[in-house]
Amino acid sequence: MSLPFDLECRPRRLRRTAGLRRMVSETSLCAANLMYPLFVCHGKNVREPVSSMPGVFHLSVENIVQEAEKAYARGVPSVLLFGLPKSKDAKASEATSKNGIVQQAVRALKKNLPELVVATDVCVCAYTDHGHCGILKGDDVDNDPSAALLGRMAASHAEAGADIVAPSAMMDGQVAAIRDALDGKGFKNTVIMGYSAKYASAFYGPFREAAHSAPGKGDRKAYQMNPANAREALIETSLDIQEGADIIMVKPALAYLDVISMMRRNFEQPLAAYNVSGEYSMVKAAARNGWADERAVALEMLTAMRRAGADIIITYWATDAAKWLVE
Ligand code: PBG
Repeated sequence: MSLPFDLECRPRRLRRTAGLRRMVSETSLCAANLMYPLFVCHGKNVREPVSSMPGVFHLSVENIVQEAEKAYARGVPSVLLFGLPKSKDAKASEATSKNGIVQQAVRALKKNLPELVVATDVCVCAYTDHGHCGILKGDDVDNDPSAALLGRMAASHAEAGADIVAPSAMMDGQVAAIRDALDGKGFKNTVIMGYSAKYASAFYGPFREAAHSAPGKGDRKAYQMNPANAREALIETSLDIQEGADIIMVKPALAYLDVISMMRRNFEQPLAAYNVSGEYSMVKAAARNGWADERAVALEMLTAMRRAGADIIITYWATDAAKWLVE
């Protein structure tokens, strides 16, 4: 039976063929948007699977170079390094050491792939014996000495050749402390990507196994943001920008698309979204059970993050997605 009236507008016309759909697509997703997180460890020829994150490995330096080469060849312009130190202590000694594992990996990457953009995570939770993101005083993370320590850590990454340092510890004033430490050592051109709105999220669960960075006791709620808050993200981000952040970030991404969209409307800086471990591993788990099509779900999630307003997406799918996007 036909309609009793003439339809003036038929939106389905523009969805009829793949060509039409592609022509009117409002959002693009390509390899250039992606940043690939990698976990570097000591040793030779290590490629140890992270059980909570299928497809993610602890890689020793020569394997990090190989993994980055693969990503770069597929058009992924950047990597984000996390380190697994040899030993942990109260002062996070390896974090600032010239021969720390991240510093070694940065030097190897810049030597073998000079065009690759190398970013480093700047936080001490994987380096402290208590697993908190700064120096403890009693049960509390002591803000100002922790920010100063992050400054020294960032400067040592810059000295190794890092293009971008990315503070994720959520200490007040950490971006200013880092800019100061970088400039003081002559690294005026090192970019700071602030984890500006980083929430105290249960979606980081699988990562803590990957980075061996779970806090021994307590949680991170006294420094990371409350998931209930959106306006506070504007305060945190304004501070990061005043302190000198070149790139801003929302983390996690999937449950925070409203925050990404709000940040896009309020700030002009390049905006990154961190598609975190829990967002990745839950799709992997569902796919293994035959409950989800990993590729379709992943590309839909990444496209949604771009639609919300992210310029850069940090994702464990970077290399796979870059391949899927051209298949
Ligand atoms: C370090 C850090 C974390 C992540 C990135 N940097 C963990 C945390 O804050 O507990 C999470 C990344 C992920 O879940 O993929 N502070």
